[in-house]
Amino acid sequence: MSRRLRKAVFPVAGLGTRFLPATKAVPKEMLTIVDRPVIQLAVDEAREAGIEHFVFVTGRNKGVIEDHFDKQFELETTLRNRGKTKELDLLASDLPSAGQTSFTRQQEPLGLGHAVWCARELIGDEPFALLLPDMLIHATPGCLAQMIEVYNAHGGNVLAVEEVPHEEVHRYGVVDVGAPGSNGAQKVKGMVEKPKRQEAPSNLIISGRYILQPEIFGKLEIQKPGSGGEIQLTDAMLALLEEQDFHALKFRGKTYDCGDKVGFLAANVAYGLARKDLGPAFRKALQEILAANGENLL
Ligand code: G1P
Repeated sequence: MSRRLRKAVFPVAGLGTRFLPATKAVPKEMLTIVDRPVIQLAVDEAREAGIEHFVFVTGRNKGVIEDHFDKQFELETTLRNRGKTKELDLLASDLPSAGQTSFTRQQEPLGLGHAVWCARELIGDEPFALLLPDMLIHATPGCLAQMIEVYNAHGGNVLAVEEVPHEEVHRYGVVDVGAPGSNGAQKVKGMVEKPKRQEAPSNLIISGRYILQPEIFGKLEIQKPGSGGEIQLTDAMLALLEEQDFHALKFRGKTYDCGDKVGFLAANVAYGLARKDLGPAFRKALQEILAANGENLL
């Protein structure tokens, strides 16, 4: 039987240069999709999938992420005094319990593989989930919950994958897979990080959700810099593929790449429209903007 998945890693050390000046003093993971920070949405997905311990690999200027996952006594006292129980309940339900979060720092920006390796002591000798918060996945059940079904059936390592247009493969890790099995998962035969378009083995990209065995840390430890001069997780996974199985799951859901400005804006529109309390008024406001521009897309 597969060992139960209890822990998740969230790499949040990136500088967020693409979102300057917003990210000068605010970590990019704290930018909001409507009213929830991007990092909160990734934690929501992990909690829904049954994860009990949340490991954040942070960097300088990211202290506010730690504050976000802590109690805020002054605010809570003020809300209580004003009888704002709805807001208080919201804060309480979002908060992991005491002792369920750990924070460590990636001291130098050496790549995603290095960031994951920084979590090795906190993960220890057990499988773990890895969620890249930039990739926001809207899915029911959540993407990680879908992956756990595959993990429970096959064990080993599991990657969430999705098809993108061929022109975009060079921005991602790309997998080569075999035929789909009974539960929709496909055995991974190879993978490559940010290939040239003409060298990509497929248009199936790694969507920023992973279930990994702890042996990945030994591979990361000796991994040489790869694409972009960075220590790449994909390269270490390729080394581990020689010893362990990887399955790829084409999950059901929609991804918004919030590391990209258009993706981030699109996520705000989609999540805003989907909100019961805001959707109708927001749709009207959008329609007015489009009409003023001579467009009628909604
Ligand atoms: C990372 C991974 C890549 C994956 C991507 C998803 O790249 O290295 O394999 O496809 O995340 O967002 P990054 O976006 O950090 O360049």
